[in-house]
Amino acid sequence: MNKLSEEKTLKISKIEDGIVIDHIHPGSALEVLSVLKITGKSGFTVSLLMNVRSSNGNNKDVVKIEKKKLRKKELDLISIISPNATINIVENFAIKEKFNVSLPERVDDIIKCQNQNCVTNAKEPVKTVFTMEKKGDTHLYRCHYCERTMTLEEIRNSITK
Ligand code: CTP
Ligand code: ZN
Repeated sequence: MNKLSEEKTLKISKIEDGIVIDHIHPGSALEVLSVLKITGKSGFTVSLLMNVRSSNGNNKDVVKIEKKKLRKKELDLISIISPNATINIVENFAIKEKFNVSLPERVDDIIKCQNQNCVTNAKEPVKTVFTMEKKGDTHLYRCHYCERTMTLEEIRNSITK
């Protein structure tokens, strides 16, 4: 890469070990950090880019977290915030694994049912279970107990509060 193009493209340095969450929906990086419970007090070294130009010409956010491993539940949460995000697992500066997140078929104990009369909101609540349904391009999640559906937008609002 010549100097000029590096000046135009390189915003933050590469990492040695950790994860790069790339192609995050522009403006959603803080929500990704929120569902991963990364507050700044957790000690992780984090780099954040918001509204930068992606190779496809659209804008994106990027989050790099050094020394971090992602669990299945965390991948599910990222997919709900940003279904087109890409996960890059970096080891010794090289990308060891790259994959797209995918919306889970079933979500246990993450989504709060918005039906106040649902048994999952009772005094002694049972854990929530939601299953995905696809209506055209729209994804809905249906409560296993009361059958109320929630849109991704409604789920995002409830899990990032
Ligand atoms: N990255 C990093 N540290 C490394 C390697 C990669 O921070 N040691 C970051 C890059 O800065 C980039 C992302 O990981 O944001 C993906 O890297 P790479 O696959 O090299 O880039 P692209 O080919 O542009 O990725 P894609 O095709 O997924 O858009
Ligand atoms: Zn319910």
